[in-house]
Amino acid sequence: MAEYKLGKLLIEGKTKKVYELVDDPNLCLLQSKDRITAGDGVKSHELEGKAAISTATTVKVFQLLDQAGIKTAFVKIASETAFISKKCEMIPIEWVTRRLATGSFLRRNPGVPEGFRFNPPCQETFFKDDANHDPQWSTAQIISAGFVLNGVVLGKDEVDIINRTTLAVFEVLERAWASRDCALIDMKIEFGVDTSGEILVADIIDSDSWRLWPSGDKRLMKDKQVYRNLSAVTQADLDTVKRNFKWVADQLDYLVPPPSALVVILMGSPSDEEHCKKIAKHVTDLGLRVQLRVSSAHKATEETLHILAEYEGSGEKVVLIAVAGRSNGLGPVLSGNTPLPVINCPPTRPDNVALDIWSSLNVPSGLGCTTVLYPESAALAAAQIHALHDHLVWSRLRVKQLTNFIALKNADITLRNLTL
Ligand SMILES: Nc1ncnc2c1ncn2[C@@H]1O[C@H](COP(=O)(O)OP(=O)(O)OP(=O)(O)O)[C@@H](O)[C@H]1O
Ligand SMILES: [Mg+2]
Repeated sequence: MAEYKLGKLLIEGKTKKVYELVDDPNLCLLQSKDRITAGDGVKSHELEGKAAISTATTVKVFQLLDQAGIKTAFVKIASETAFISKKCEMIPIEWVTRRLATGSFLRRNPGVPEGFRFNPPCQETFFKDDANHDPQWSTAQIISAGFVLNGVVLGKDEVDIINRTTLAVFEVLERAWASRDCALIDMKIEFGVDTSGEILVADIIDSDSWRLWPSGDKRLMKDKQVYRNLSAVTQADLDTVKRNFKWVADQLDYLVPPPSALVVILMGSPSDEEHCKKIAKHVTDLGLRVQLRVSSAHKATEETLHILAEYEGSGEKVVLIAVAGRSNGLGPVLSGNTPLPVINCPPTRPDNVALDIWSSLNVPSGLGCTTVLYPESAALAAAQIHALHDHLVWSRLRVKQLTNFIALKNADITLRNLTL
């Protein structure tokens, strides 16, 4: 931590200390403690090694969210037990998302059986107030509180954006954990407003933040609920809790897989290069690998089939995008000779589209190639296919939806306030 000069202690909570950084007023350092607490701090124990496990967990979760495109306050790891974050004024609300009903939800909603499934996930908010056991608050209560943080007034639009972001965070992490056969049952996150006025997912996300049931089996739970459920706490109990937390931190290493999804863009002629590069740009923006190839199904059919054999034999997961002007023989020939998905994206112009498009659309029976007109659509269609097996690609598509929502909301706010 020698590279960071710590300034004054901003705040000390039950599980961490937050320090200013002398060299950057926009950042802070979150130093985790070897302490585990429950019941608003009533139950509390020293747990040697917890700070390191908690930091490792939080850092990996924030890195995953970052790769998915969600804006968080996380900046970088500082030591085994601390990380650097954007310095925020924190919104004193816990944003909770539930896929299955359990725990306090059952007490507050008598009659709902444990395991009741919420589609879409259930969202709840709680005001952070230990003395009053964090009472549940409605959206109306949050807006009416009139929170102002780093100059940002928390109104309906801001709460809408936070609610949508909370849902995306949950779904991204739920998918990621599903890839390890773990069910994310529910979780809570917190938001802060940084010094530039941006609303960010902040605080930490660790084994205290969620319920995690391997194979969806409550008896196998790996989260802090194990500690909450203990009446008398022995050293052996604490060892079990720590082993569970370590297991979670270790599993997270598998949740950011090396990129495997490959999109191959085949063009019938090098004159299609510009159009293909536009598709390639969208594909790489979505975090997929891309390769460009040139092959004419009309003039060099055998070579086209050789290229196809190359990818079929590679053992990789491949989606093909066929780009051919005038008569598109390429896409249908590929599609007729492989079970791999083929997406046609002909480089049409307004003056030739009515003529050329039919070669992509009116294909012989037995062919399943699809056709889109725009480079972005081709990339998105390929990503949607890969998203079925790659949770990170799925997450990027999911966060793209969120980003679109936020951009439209912000445009609406700007235009609504325009004086004409
Ligand atoms: N990026 C950040 N910038 C500023 N403060 C932060 C940031 N991230 C977290 N904090 C704040 O650090 C404080 C200490 O965290 P800690 O979790 O230990 O508190 P706590 O005792 O659990 O209290 P709380 O119930 O508010 O979480 C919290 O008030 C939290 O909101
Ligand atoms: Mg806290």
